[in-house]
Amino acid sequence: MDLTPRLAVIGESIDECDVVADIGSDHAYLPIYLINNNKAKKAIATDINKGPAEISMKRVKKYGLEQHIEIRIGDGLSALKDKEADIIVIAGMGGILIQNILSEGIDIARSAGELILQPMRDSRILIKWLIQNSFEIFNGEIVKENDKFYEIIWTRYKQNCYDEKSIDMINEMFYYKNSPALLEYIDKKISEYSGIIDHLENFTHKNQKRIEECSKELIHYKEAKKWLSLNVEQ
Ligand SMILES: C[S@@+](CC[C@H](N)C(=O)[O-])C[C@H]1O[C@@H](n2cnc3c(N)ncnc32)[C@H](O)[C@@H]1O
Repeated sequence: MDLTPRLAVIGESIDECDVVADIGSDHAYLPIYLINNNKAKKAIATDINKGPAEISMKRVKKYGLEQHIEIRIGDGLSALKDKEADIIVIAGMGGILIQNILSEGIDIARSAGELILQPMRDSRILIKWLIQNSFEIFNGEIVKENDKFYEIIWTRYKQNCYDEKSIDMINEMFYYKNSPALLEYIDKKISEYSGIIDHLENFTHKNQKRIEECSKELIHYKEAKKWLSLNVEQ
């Protein structure tokens, strides 16, 4: 079974471990890949909804992996016991939902060796929360799949890992590995916001608030692009 590029980057980044938990697993693609590729001895695939959990169950049976993959129905990290998982993956959900899942299960989140998070939107809010709550972001990557870009963050709890300055400074793009996909993503954002501003400027009754919001975003991504050009990997 081949994973899509987004899930493949997550799967390949996982070194051999005892237990991995995939929160909001939906189809259990990732746990099946991890067990079949000897990357984890055991996987726990959870979902808040019965339907996806049943689909996961059927797929796990099809691959004969019932001994290695446990399916659980539950909300966020409440489906796990303390220190049960070495690695916790939360992918394919909004950044605010991921943030809520982490804050509601903060003890479990802190006790995991590694958290792999893949927000579909609002990554800036999530990254800010991680920094404010002493989750060290030790890797970040932008993955392109067809015409879509996905943000992936690798983090773990580490007391006092950020100083006041990093908490105030927040350009989430700085946490991603310098790569052609990152540059393409930033260019896309710059072109999107420039386009919206040009379009809005043409109206007689200008929506000044929206123009200001988009201008802020434009500055944000231009700042990231400048930083990227100064930090070209050798
Ligand atoms: C879009 S799917 C993502 C599936 C998979 N993780 C991926 O990245 O391809 C999101 C899944 O998260 C589940 N979900 C949403 N909120 C959840 C929560 N609080 N706890 C557990 N699962 C949740 C949904 O039921 C859905 O199956």
